[in-house]
Amino acid sequence: MTVRSRTQVGIVGAGPAGLLLSHLLALRGIDSVVVENRSRAYCEARQRAGLLEAGTVELLRTVGLGDRMDSEGLEHGGIYLQFEGERHHLDFRDLTGGRWVTIYAQTEIVKDLIQARLAAGAAIEFEVSDTEVGALEADQPVLRYTDAAGTRHEVTCDAIAGCDGFHGICRDSMPAGLVQVAERVYPYAWIGILASVPPSTDELIYARHEDGFALHTMRTPQVSRLYLQVPADEQIKNWTDERIWSELRRRLTVPGWELEDGPITERAITPMRSFVASPMRYRRLFLAGDAAHIVPPTGAKGLNLALADVTALARALTSLLADGRPEAADAYSDTSLGRVWRATHFSWWMTSMLHVDPHADPFGATLQLAQLRYVISSRAAATTLAENYTGYFPLAWD
Ligand code: FAD
Ligand code: DHB
Repeated sequence: MTVRSRTQVGIVGAGPAGLLLSHLLALRGIDSVVVENRSRAYCEARQRAGLLEAGTVELLRTVGLGDRMDSEGLEHGGIYLQFEGERHHLDFRDLTGGRWVTIYAQTEIVKDLIQARLAAGAAIEFEVSDTEVGALEADQPVLRYTDAAGTRHEVTCDAIAGCDGFHGICRDSMPAGLVQVAERVYPYAWIGILASVPPSTDELIYARHEDGFALHTMRTPQVSRLYLQVPADEQIKNWTDERIWSELRRRLTVPGWELEDGPITERAITPMRSFVASPMRYRRLFLAGDAAHIVPPTGAKGLNLALADVTALARALTSLLADGRPEAADAYSDTSLGRVWRATHFSWWMTSMLHVDPHADPFGATLQLAQLRYVISSRAAATTLAENYTGYFPLAWD
């Protein structure tokens, strides 16, 4: 038996993109149903991003999601760039006329969003299977799924948002031949760890070392997060705690500064890829976040882009469904792709400047160092980094 229902917007995926979209639509009086194939506990524990642009922070505050972020988030006014054994500070507030970034983990944003949606009585179905989107030629596309109890559902929608991440089903449900993909796979990966030890730094350290890139970031005043460049085909079982800490120490230490270590509570390997699918819309199916694009994590852009996409999408769907005005929905893909390609360039640039390319010759490595030296010595070059890092495009929500 199939249970039939209807909603205005069917949302596939309860990651940050799908959850924020559902929240923003509700603020404008638009109903939605969110379906997610993982459990709530899994979504709330999945370790990923940690760094929010100033505009993302301001948006979350404006839409009533700022309370815990404001009490627990860590505001940073700059970063350290390290190479050839020297550490240099970039002061974003000075370079950009006051912009900053905030460390507040994606896990916490997802918890805040799920709590806010459930408190408002929203429909979020966790642990669904066999999600499908269909009738895409019509003005009433359908979302089908099987719930955790085994009942099949068919939801008739006015629009569907594919917020189902890189491995979701929505992108591949667009007609064959419509979607063009631009892609770059990098010849390295990251090991990311969480450790129960206070951070050894006040602001993030991005380090280019001849043995590879390392990043020291954090989650709270008691919890550090660190990343290490490893070969693309590396396996986590080859990395004992001792090996991880000794490699981090080799790449991060400078005279007069030491890395404190502590128990590692979480570890994973992340591949590095740039990927952009276009267009991000087919009729009433809209893609947002990692479902449409992936950036390598070096510029900390993925989560910020996902939240920017759904902010634009919520406005476009409100105009379409509440006011019958299609212009913003028609422009959604092109305007989003402008922002996506800016972040794609920035993430590629940061990644290529800071990692050791196993295939590079001395010419390539020397170019990287020349570029790093330019960034720390030219105000114009430092400003380019700072304005992209803190967020180049304003997010509009009123
Ligand atoms: P996702 O978070 O992937 O959510 C998609 C959801 O859809 C998932 O819950 C998935 O289970 C669900 N789903 C998939 N298929 C289906 C289906 N068939 N049916 C139902 N549900 C489905 N970004 C930053 O901005 N700053 C950072 O500091 C940063 N650091 C990062 C560090 C690491 C190690 C990694 C891996 C990523 C990092 N990112 C960062 C990127 C960021 O985490 C992602 O861009 C972000 O999660 C994208 O959100 P999303 O909602 O689009 O997709
Ligand atoms: C974090 C991850 C990043 O990729 C980055 O560039 C900055 C911060 C983080 O997990 O905190």
